[in-house]
Amino acid sequence: MMKVIPTTDAIKAQIAEAQRAGKTIGFVPTMGALHEGHLALMRQAKRENDLLVVSIFVNPIQFNNMEDLKKYPRNIVQDSIMLESVGCDFLFAPDEQEMYPEPVTDQYEFGKLSEVMEGASRPGHFNGVAIVVRKLLEIVEPDKAYFGEKDFQQLAIIQQLVKNLLLPVEIVPCPIIREKDGLAMSSRNMRLTENERFNAPFIYQTLTKAVKLNTVLSPEELKKWITDKFKSRPEFKIDYVEIAEDEQLQTVTHWNDAKGVYIFIAVFLGNVRLIDNMRIF
Ligand code: PAJ
Repeated sequence: MMKVIPTTDAIKAQIAEAQRAGKTIGFVPTMGALHEGHLALMRQAKRENDLLVVSIFVNPIQFNNMEDLKKYPRNIVQDSIMLESVGCDFLFAPDEQEMYPEPVTDQYEFGKLSEVMEGASRPGHFNGVAIVVRKLLEIVEPDKAYFGEKDFQQLAIIQQLVKNLLLPVEIVPCPIIREKDGLAMSSRNMRLTENERFNAPFIYQTLTKAVKLNTVLSPEELKKWITDKFKSRPEFKIDYVEIAEDEQLQTVTHWNDAKGVYIFIAVFLGNVRLIDNMRIF
């Protein structure tokens, strides 16, 4: 049976007991409205550790758009059923007062990694992510913590955070889980209208075609090719398209600039903002 724990003191006590018993802890932080993408992280965490700890906390300070925060899907009853199904041992579900008894003012510095893409489009977002993830990692003290490549830049930021602060945890990157039609799973997909949901796989389809064009187009030409594809579909509004390396996420101008090169994209479909990425090589 999964234990649901709302307070920091209670989860710390459970963790301390597990540590005394020599158990390893795998941790998956989430904002709830769980889907198969989250569950894949949890199954891997459960496989690789003695105990699975999941957190659900819709972190207000990482939302740069109040409307997005207000509309963020919340579904704790369905979430609990899904968590039981993957063998979650402890669900840490604090409220805002528990997480932030005092206002937080920490400022983290990630250099140019936080200046591009999501960092440029969502001011303050990664600082809010860093504050909450640090806090969660210090509370749960996991051996391993699991993050999805769906949020590739977030994963890079967290790896940087853990390195800078020498946090004793192994960050485990996990591949993007997609719907059958290719749409990257996301809690925000629930907010798409039927028609938007029908159109959404165009993102995956375009990325799949684009990655194959690296033999005939330069990175800049490929970026333009993708942009033009979306311009032919008025239901989409591009926020950004970037062809970037996989460490500092800086734009590449030549294919041999880096070992790992990805396409990163953020688009609006109606008023829902979707992100995706795909490795070119
Ligand atoms: P959330 O969006 O709930 O995502 C929780 C974790 O699930 C993240 O590591 C995310 O990358 C991963 N994830 C989401 N969709 C995925 C998919 N389709 N395939 C693979 N992994 C996927 O990311 C957050 O919450 C928050 O920013 C958080 C880290 C919890 C801090 O508040």
